[in-house]
Amino acid sequence: MSIYKIAVLAGDGIGPEVMAEAIKVLDACAQRFHFQPQYQAVKVGGAAIDAYGEALPAATLQACEQSDAILFGSVGGPKWTHLPAAQQPERAALLKLRQHFDLFCNIRPARWYAGFEHLSPLKPQTTAKGMDIVCFRELTSGIYFGAKERSEQSASDTQTYQRDEIRRIAIKAFQTAVHRRGKVTSIDKANVMASGVLWREVVSEVAQQFPQVQLEHMYVDNAAMQLIRDPSQFDVLLCDNLFGDILSDELAAIAGSLGLLPSASINASRFGLYEPAGGSAPDIAGQGSANPIAQILSAALMLRYSFANEAAACAIETGVTHALKQQQVTADLTSTNPVSTARVGDAVAQFITEEVAAWA
Ligand code: NAD
Ligand code: IPM
Ligand code: MN
Repeated sequence: MSIYKIAVLAGDGIGPEVMAEAIKVLDACAQRFHFQPQYQAVKVGGAAIDAYGEALPAATLQACEQSDAILFGSVGGPKWTHLPAAQQPERAALLKLRQHFDLFCNIRPARWYAGFEHLSPLKPQTTAKGMDIVCFRELTSGIYFGAKERSEQSASDTQTYQRDEIRRIAIKAFQTAVHRRGKVTSIDKANVMASGVLWREVVSEVAQQFPQVQLEHMYVDNAAMQLIRDPSQFDVLLCDNLFGDILSDELAAIAGSLGLLPSASINASRFGLYEPAGGSAPDIAGQGSANPIAQILSAALMLRYSFANEAAACAIETGVTHALKQQQVTADLTSTNPVSTARVGDAVAQFITEEVAAWA
């Protein structure tokens, strides 16, 4: 039986609550699909600062290095914002992990599930056209990792992109578009930014290797508007680090909730860190009301990308549709009879245990 070594970094806020549901679902999958998950649960972020004085203790990094994949919750919150910037959970743990493992390729799929378009805040005539978008976000360069300066009177962040950094994420986006609807929309601000001009140039070069894919360049401000107006026009989005961060939250809102959007951050060896696109949601932490779907779908992406277990990944995704069908949804998705975080996890796990068996 295959052993899957998984470092579990639940983190802060709603992280531990939604992580428990992802593990519940993974355990149900392990039974059905005959693999053996070996979890190593370690502290990260604010929880690690509180316990050990630093956001990414050596033992946590070591657990990640010894694993095949990292399942990550979320980090940060008001309790730690007084710390010097470099010690805060987001930078000291999450950005550090992305950099350490060279997780340059961030994938955020956003869609409307057939029959659940009403979860979206967009108009029915817009949702009727459907949405199925995969956002590719460059994750280890750009303004996040450029030189930063701060004096009393000024502050600066620098955006630098190397050709190779743009090329490798562009190739991933095009490779995916080949197997989808054959369209890449590359997002930039080439009318203002030098790095945007280079971005456009390199993406156009990569496009020549993929004649079957249509490439469209779009300024980010227009893209933010077009996504709301008619998301059905997009197939694969290709974004730099900052624009991808912003537009992926917009995608989540269009889908219905930040609690629905999973994410995979992978490197050239397909080692990955899998986490919800949203954060620690301090406003609802501890109430058992957070939506665990983004975390559960992140576990599905982990099975797909790091363990090449497509059947188990699909079973989870179908289980999520099942939970939605059964109206087993949290308060972010309904105002009438929302269920708890744990009930959503139960519904997905139960589907995998009982109904996936019937497929075999
Ligand atoms: P957030 O994503 O935590 O929350 C934004 C809004 O979305 C809140 O109203 C929250 O309740 C809601 N929301 C998010 N996830 C939800 C879920 N699963 N179910 C239901 N509602 C959900 O963003 P924020 O408030 O700007 O940030 C809070 C903290 O999280 C900050 O410290 C931020 O830096 C951090 N953060 C961490 C990550 C990460 O670890 N990957 C990602 C984003 C933000
Ligand atoms: C995300 C988050 C992170 C980012 C933060 C917490 C550093 O917002 O994963 O989208 O900006 O990349
Ligand atoms: Mn974000």
